[in-house]
Amino acid sequence: MARSFLLSSALLALQVAAQSATPYTDEKSGISFNGYKHSSGFTLGIALPETPDTDFIGQFVAPITNDGGWAGFSMGTSMTGTLLVAAWPHGDQVISSFRKATGYTSPAVQAGNFTLTEIPDGTYVNDTAFAYTFLCSNCISDDALLLSDSANVLGWAYSDTAISTPASASSTLNMHDAGYGLFGVTIDNAKSADYDTWAALATGSSSGSGSNSTGSTGNSTTPTTGSKANITATTSDDTYDYIVAGAGPAGIIVAERLAESGASVLLVERGGASFASTGNNDTLSWNSTISIYDVPGLDYYLSKAGSPAYCTDTADMAGCLLGGGTMINAMMFVKPQSRDFDDSWPSGWKWADMSDSADRLYERNPGQNYGSMDGNRYNNEAYEVLSDFFGKQGFTETDAIKGDHNARQDVYAYPPWDTANGLRNGPVRSYLPLAQQQKDFKLMLNTKVIRAVRDGSAISGIETETSSGARVIYNVKAGGSVILAAGAMSTPRLLINSGIGPSEQIQTVADGSVSVTLPDKADWIELPVGAEIKDHVIFTLKFNTTTSMYSPPTTELLSPNQTCADQFAKGSGLLSQSGQRLNFWTSVNTTSGKEMFIQGTCNGPANDTIQMKVYLTHGLTSVGALGMTADGATELTTEPWLQTDEDKEAITSFMDRLLKMTTSSGSTLTFLSAGSTTAGSNVTGADLINEHVTGSHYVGSAKMGTKGDSGVVVDTDTKVYGTDNLFVVDASMHPDLPTGNTQAIVMVAAEKAAERILAAGSGSSNSTSDSISASSSAVSSVGTAVSTSTPMATSSSSSSSASSVVASETPTVTSYSASAQTSSQATQSTQQSQPAQQSQPAQQSQPVQPSQPAQQSSTQQSQSAQPSQSAQNSNSNDGSNPWWQVSPDNSWWNGPSSTSTSAIPTATPAQWGQSRHVRSHLRKRYVVKDDAAVDRKVSLLDDTHA
Ligand SMILES: *[C@@H]1O[C@H](CO)[C@@H](O)[C@H](O)[C@H]1NC(C)=O
Ligand SMILES: *[C@@H]1O[C@H](CO)[C@@H](O)[C@H](O)[C@H]1NC(C)=O
Ligand SMILES: *[C@@H]1O[C@H](CO)[C@@H](O)[C@H](O)[C@H]1NC(C)=O
Ligand SMILES: *[C@@H]1O[C@H](CO)[C@@H](O)[C@H](O)[C@H]1NC(C)=O
Ligand SMILES: *[C@@H]1O[C@H](CO)[C@@H](O)[C@H](O)[C@H]1NC(C)=O
Repeated sequence: MARSFLLSSALLALQVAAQSATPYTDEKSGISFNGYKHSSGFTLGIALPETPDTDFIGQFVAPITNDGGWAGFSMGTSMTGTLLVAAWPHGDQVISSFRKATGYTSPAVQAGNFTLTEIPDGTYVNDTAFAYTFLCSNCISDDALLLSDSANVLGWAYSDTAISTPASASSTLNMHDAGYGLFGVTIDNAKSADYDTWAALATGSSSGSGSNSTGSTGNSTTPTTGSKANITATTSDDTYDYIVAGAGPAGIIVAERLAESGASVLLVERGGASFASTGNNDTLSWNSTISIYDVPGLDYYLSKAGSPAYCTDTADMAGCLLGGGTMINAMMFVKPQSRDFDDSWPSGWKWADMSDSADRLYERNPGQNYGSMDGNRYNNEAYEVLSDFFGKQGFTETDAIKGDHNARQDVYAYPPWDTANGLRNGPVRSYLPLAQQQKDFKLMLNTKVIRAVRDGSAISGIETETSSGARVIYNVKAGGSVILAAGAMSTPRLLINSGIGPSEQIQTVADGSVSVTLPDKADWIELPVGAEIKDHVIFTLKFNTTTSMYSPPTTELLSPNQTCADQFAKGSGLLSQSGQRLNFWTSVNTTSGKEMFIQGTCNGPANDTIQMKVYLTHGLTSVGALGMTADGATELTTEPWLQTDEDKEAITSFMDRLLKMTTSSGSTLTFLSAGSTTAGSNVTGADLINEHVTGSHYVGSAKMGTKGDSGVVVDTDTKVYGTDNLFVVDASMHPDLPTGNTQAIVMVAAEKAAERILAAGSGSSNSTSDSISASSSAVSSVGTAVSTSTPMATSSSSSSSASSVVASETPTVTSYSASAQTSSQATQSTQQSQPAQQSQPAQQSQPVQPSQPAQQSSTQQSQSAQPSQSAQNSNSNDGSNPWWQVSPDNSWWNGPSSTSTSAIPTATPAQWGQSRHVRSHLRKRYVVKDDAAVDRKVSLLDDTHA
């Protein structure tokens, strides 16, 4: 049977993949473990009885550097959907808790019948290290560790950075930047006749939180409400026409358009600076004028190149920094097709209504499909192979930037990127500087919005928390509005914290550990916030090429040689390109007559190897749900992937087609693997959908539509039902998923939202009512006005330069008009230094980036010395980022990028998380049959996915 074939080949791969455990004896406790030791000093050991039942003994030993950090392990290979244990030192104690992650972010505390009981003899904290030895009771079960007789692969993770609240067992965990991976335990080697003696040493706290019993029980470490501090917020004297919560792509675009109208605008971002030009002085060793976020070629390797600012309290990966998701995505800029709006968006938001908004965006932020300014496409081998493959199958080439945005059936293209002048682009470059030229615009960084302050239907302002924990309220002027743009996973939190959402979610906040001042229960506004979240679902496939194909090693990107660094300084070379090499699009029709779209994003991760990330996109029917945890994070309460038979049918039918394409004559590809499914004559499309990963393209958590309809939270002005002046403008309000990565459509819709908000006239009531009522048209005319007054928006000279660039397939340096650039750059410098002085937050009372103005001008100067850097400010050729073509690297406990140089795609040793959810899905399938043996095999399949 196919399954057992797959299993055994997967096991084979597994043996190549994981490090093996070795025996060692802990001197202090005398317990013999079978364990894994990493070069960092992190050690994880397991001890079992001769006949394993429900319990095992575990041990962490980890160095203490940088004031702490944490050690963790997963009872399977995946970070997500698997029981985790985390422990860390606090004073002379060790704190621990069970965790479970729904996405690649800080895992929430997990309740269950399992407990951790400390073995004091093996638990200590000294100057350089800590050890935690524990009896894990009820930890071998369906919900925890599934032991196999022959092989078990466990994941480990280690951070050497202090966590936020180490005294609390439910503290948010930071990313495991000191190491992570998998190791295999041979069960027989972990068994001992002395086990019972050792287990009897477990006399410490059995609370599940190590030797400190703070706020935890074995069932849950959720702190009680009584522990909440009483928070006193001060109120700022500054008031604004509009306050925008969140400086991601939607927030920046809306804030800029509102500021253009002459209104006073406060844009609040919880994270810090991103690009070096915005004040991030964590620059690169090989170029001191850029941060990791500036470099397109690092997008698959952000966490290898630095410490990206991922949010720690969202249901899946998100960017908590200026620019939001546009800073941590892989820059795909897929223009929405008409149907992305026409199929499910409400009237007023159909393509006919949206095309002007799209034009406004593309004028400032056009995207591009070449990357390198010297006109060369570097490492283009995968495109050659793939275009030949798809061409022979009847696919036609399209241009994803300047071609027909509706060409989405059987087409392939160079990947569209939001890059410009060799750098990552997006609203932080293409809109924010324009906002900063407005005298009443203020950007506030490192300030987290907690809630909208609400009295009945009227919103008076926002409550914020500074990085030092102080609470400050900012109010809107009479007639002003608050606009939520915190992203599809955080805007729901802001709504729920404002007493708007499902009452059980608001109650979770009321009972939770975060101090949130909620309205009286009678004033809660019952709306289905989070009730209908959707996401793309992604399947990762690998193929061998029939002709030889070169792939550069990852080190060329992570440690570029001087030639590569010099090229990049001129906006060119491998580093100026994102990681993808070809995109394709097509659609399938299901038996019920529904058309669903497929996007493929391809690259060449290793010599003679092609990787395809196949996405099921527009038209998919699965819906998940998002809720709050007691400690204030959002979590997926229902997974949004492959919930319907129709979605499974659609993706299976495409996979069947793809397999057939690879076996047809003249095919340049042979199927190699999809997760743990490896090549074989009996592999079918159904096998290829066994394992999927998140698209991290969430939409719909505060959907736009008609009040009372399923999942609907905002009206067609993007205003929250039941409120006078609260709006949602990010992906939360999108009623449906687009055909491609979400960042482009998020930006298009934000342009429209700004227009609708201005037209709705809920800005500053008196002074601007005239201009506001005219604003619907004003938005476009203002856009034009701005573009003639600044080189940032396309002035006529730069716009002709832009079109000459995009007109040639492989732009040359000359088409990039050096003279036009110099002049625009000169103007640019002047223009940028001015707004920096006018509107930099440092001059305001608030705790913004004090370094910004200085940083900007110094960056500016150093940039002048470097063509590429100066060019970055000429936005005539910018692109935009794909929200979330999630880089394979972008995950928490996830393993290395699948674009690693390993020639054996199934054997990269550390891929926690890649096989996301398979375990639970497959298990459900088998558990129904109540077949424990099969279930265990399934968990192995999961373990070996890679
Ligand atoms: C603990 O819970 C798991 C899953 O619900 C179950 O399989 C197991 O039997 C339970 N163990 C005990 C000792 O109750
Ligand atoms: C602290 O503990 C570590 C790990 O057991 C050990 O290697 C080290 O020698 C200890 N240091 C001291 C000062 O005891
Ligand atoms: C746990 O640690 C915290 C922080 O040091 C301390 O306040 C608390 O009293 C400790 N609890 C116990 C039971 O030791
Ligand atoms: C876990 O919860 C169960 C049921 O509520 C309770 O009986 C048990 O005592 C709890 N265990 C611990 C360690 O608190
Ligand atoms: C918080 O305020 C309430 C009401 O004033 C008071 O009863 C309570 O003791 C305060 N709690 C703390 C921890 O200060």
